[in-house]
Amino acid sequence: MTSLGSGGSRVRPDGIDTSRPHPARMYDYFLGGKDNYEVDQAAAEKFITKAPEVREGVRANRDFLIRAVRHVVGECGIRQILDVGTGLPTEPNVHQVAHALAPETRVAYVDNDPIVSTHSMALLDGTDNTAVVLADLREPQELLAHPEVRRLIDFDRPVALLLVAVVHFLADSDDPDGILATLRDALPAGSCLVLSHATGDVHADGRADAAAVYNEATAPLTLRSHERIAQFFGDFTLVDPGLVRVTHWRPEEPPRDAPPIGIYGGVARKAG
Ligand SMILES: C[S@@+](CC[C@H](N)C(=O)[O-])C[C@H]1O[C@@H](n2cnc3c(N)ncnc32)[C@H](O)[C@@H]1O
Repeated sequence: MTSLGSGGSRVRPDGIDTSRPHPARMYDYFLGGKDNYEVDQAAAEKFITKAPEVREGVRANRDFLIRAVRHVVGECGIRQILDVGTGLPTEPNVHQVAHALAPETRVAYVDNDPIVSTHSMALLDGTDNTAVVLADLREPQELLAHPEVRRLIDFDRPVALLLVAVVHFLADSDDPDGILATLRDALPAGSCLVLSHATGDVHADGRADAAAVYNEATAPLTLRSHERIAQFFGDFTLVDPGLVRVTHWRPEEPPRDAPPIGIYGGVARKAG
C-alpha cells in the first residue's frame, strides 16, 4: 500500500518511497537483483545509456569488497566490521565472507534506506554476531552512538570500517571530510578503512551526464578525482597497492582494462 506524502512522494507505511529512484535499488538492478521498482529500473536504464560499463563496474566493486573483507579479517585479524552504506543483501554478503574465515566476527550493517534494513533483517534473522541499523552517514556521531552499533562493536578493539560505494552519495555540502574525520577518530589503532568511490577520471566525458541521472534520485552522485578521494583516508596508511581502480586492487586474476571501470578503491590502516 502506498500513500501520497508531502511533495508528492509516495511513501509506504514501512517508510519505503516508490516514487523516486533509490541508489540501493538502482544498484540492486545493476547487479541483476529483484529488489527494485519501475522507477529504479527506468533510472538505471537511463544511467546505462550514459555509462554502458556500469554493470561490470558494480560487479568489480563487489569483488573488491569481498577481497578487502578477506584482507581485513584474514590478514589483519580484525573481528569487528562496521559496514556503512551496506546496500540490499547480495551474495556473498559481508558477514558470509568474514564468517567463512572467522565465524566469531561481528558485523554491524548500516544504511539509511528502510528497504535495506527490512530486507537485511529478514536475511539475518537467526544469524549470530550481526545487526542491521537504520542510520545516516551524514550524522556520524548518532551512527557511532547507536545502541545496536555499540552492542556489537567495541571501539577499544580494532574495527574494519567499510565505506564501499557510499561516500559518493555525500555532496560536498554534507562536509564529507568532517564526516570521515569523525569516523576515523572513533577507531582505535590497528583499525582499517575500506573505501571505494566513483570517479570521472577514467572516461573522456567525465561521466557527468551519467552522474546527473542521480539528480532525480533520493541522493545525488558526486564523482571525485583520485587526489580528492585519497584525502578521505586522512593519516591512515594505505596498504599496497594504494588507492587504485577496484579492478587493480589485489586481483585474483590479471585485471582486464576493457571496459575501464571508474571506481577507485583502497584499504588503509590506522597506526599506533
Ligand atoms: C551503491 S550501494 C553500495 C552497497 C555496498 N556497500 C556495495 O558496495 O556493494 C550504496 C548504499 O549506500 C546507501 N546510502 C546512501 N547514502 C547514505 C547515507 N547518507 N547514509 C547511509 N547509507 C547511505 C544507499 O542506501 C545504498 O544502499
